[in-house]
Amino acid sequence: MHSNRESKLNNSSLSAPSSDARTITISLDELRQHQRVLAERDGHAVLVIMTSYGIVALDPTCPHQHTRSLGEGVIKDDTIACPNHGWTFSLLTGKALRGSGCIRLYPVRITDTMVIVELPNDQPRWMQY
Ligand code: FES
Repeated sequence: MHSNRESKLNNSSLSAPSSDARTITISLDELRQHQRVLAERDGHAVLVIMTSYGIVALDPTCPHQHTRSLGEGVIKDDTIACPNHGWTFSLLTGKALRGSGCIRLYPVRITDTMVIVELPNDQPRWMQY
């Protein structure tokens, strides 16, 4: 069962994926066990985390130096802080609370056993390698 906070967090991302959408699927048991799972597909890295506010999927690339350092980010309440220089981002909006810019949050769907992350078809210019 998901808490009200969790439901609130995930409601904005419950839409069904489009037919050409790419997805990454994470085991809900694995996420419960480790609290965070880092996965990658077709060059898209995804960090899936379980917080007291719900399950969130994001690109772990920090907009400060464009490294995937948020995979080791410090999660507190509804924020994640980069371990390198402390830029901090809202897990609700993606916006920087300390530093500047924003992180990319990905839509998630949660089934009884899986977390399904819908990947975007594009990448911001600064994310392209
Ligand atoms: S690389 Fe993330 S705050 Fe500097």
